[in-house]
Amino acid sequence: MERLHKFLARCGAASRRECEKIISQGRVRVNGKTIIEPGFTVDPEKDKIFLDEKILKPEEKIYIILFKPRGCVSTVKDPQNRLKVIDLLKGIKQRVYPVGRLDYDSEGLLFLTNDGELANFMIHPRYEVEKVYLAVLDNIPGKNDLERLQRGIMLDDGKTSPSRVKVINEAAGKVLVEIRIHEGRKHQVKRMFEAAGRKVLNLKRVKMGPLELGRLKPGEYKILSEKEAEELKKGIMDEHKGKA
Ligand code: URA
Repeated sequence: MERLHKFLARCGAASRRECEKIISQGRVRVNGKTIIEPGFTVDPEKDKIFLDEKILKPEEKIYIILFKPRGCVSTVKDPQNRLKVIDLLKGIKQRVYPVGRLDYDSEGLLFLTNDGELANFMIHPRYEVEKVYLAVLDNIPGKNDLERLQRGIMLDDGKTSPSRVKVINEAAGKVLVEIRIHEGRKHQVKRMFEAAGRKVLNLKRVKMGPLELGRLKPGEYKILSEKEAEELKKGIMDEHKGKA
């Protein structure tokens, strides 16, 4: 049995919260009867569930790795009407959501899916999915600052959890560093380096958990095969079991 609003969301009707509203508006019928009760549960295998006269079936799960280019937003809606990552996906029927964000001017790996359970695991700091970024800085961080960044550095929303930072090269006054973090606070990498007195000139996410950008170019994406998706889910869920 499953709560009706969850089932609606799983069918791609809207977000869970929106689906609660849709139910309260009397737009959903289960086996011919209009349901407005918030906690109503259904049997997705047996019940006939209609939204506005349209029968609902759970969406097929889809898992997408996108190379988000700079100059597009990773939100599903944008009040300023800028290019959105979902505008880059062609011919995908399912409603997918970005798992975690990248800033408008950041690029790199963005994972999109309609699998809410897996998405929750991937963004929850408790499960510590590692994210790897390459950042171009205006100057090399000193030894002390590198240590502070790695131990945890104080930001205005609290101290960060430990990270790993490696200077990769330094040329013409610019420095390329790799940083590995497990959290996903807003503008986190930029704020961490800023707290260490450095400016991030370019930021690219290259890894998220077991997912990698591979040969993708900006704006390109790939849909995971069923086998890859199964491996991803299994790997992440198994890891979580150890930590939960
Ligand atoms: N940290 C940032 O500062 N920006 C991003 O886009 C991602 C991580």
